[in-house]
Amino acid sequence: MKWIEAVSYEDMSQIAATIFKEQLKKVKTSVFGMATGSTPEGLYKELVKAYQAGELSFAEAKSFNLDEYIGITPENKASYHYFMDENLFNHIDMKRENIYVPTGDTEDIEKAATDYDAAIATVGGIDIQLLGIGVNGHIGFNEPGTPFELETNIVELTQSTREANQIYFDSINDVPTKAITMGIQTIMNAKKVILLISGTSKQDAYERLRSGEITTDFPASALHNHKDVTVIYTGVK
Ligand code: PGA
Repeated sequence: MKWIEAVSYEDMSQIAATIFKEQLKKVKTSVFGMATGSTPEGLYKELVKAYQAGELSFAEAKSFNLDEYIGITPENKASYHYFMDENLFNHIDMKRENIYVPTGDTEDIEKAATDYDAAIATVGGIDIQLLGIGVNGHIGFNEPGTPFELETNIVELTQSTREANQIYFDSINDVPTKAITMGIQTIMNAKKVILLISGTSKQDAYERLRSGEITTDFPASALHNHKDVTVIYTGVK
């Protein structure tokens, strides 16, 4: 695991953006694994800026998002699909048919999960998977206790995750109780992983990851078994 200390949130975002840009310049057909949350917003701004400056094009690239709530539509402002449109996809030239976000509003949610892994496999896998980390060490919506070998699956959200995500909803009662998420194995299948950690609320998670202990109690620790992970962190000791 490679650790890069950034001097600020902007610096973290720029370091991550450089890795994405270099990948895209090298391979126009790159497949990116995208993440939602406040942590990657700065990175997305950098990518939009680079696209608008004519520095790069996403016209042949593809992306797969990590997760989505179950029971809300892509038009719902709290959905991850909506977040991605607002923060990235509405502002770059990635083709709509090349943008994949897990489907959270379908009758057959189990099939949606299986289809998602199949779609990733069909395009040859993910070149760079972007991740944030939850205060409890979750990656995607893989909460503590999740077996490392799961692929895309349906999960119950923990209370701490629902509380952390309440800011995107009118009240805690509106926060869905379930989600569809790439499993830890899906994440581990990516060729390269970039994990962003920002801010004092992530201090404990950062320290636990840094300790090197590998346990399903702390889902991000699975990444110690991946051969190409870069952690870019700021605002933690
Ligand atoms: P955050 O979420 O970027 O909003 O802190 C990260 C996560 O919970 O995975």
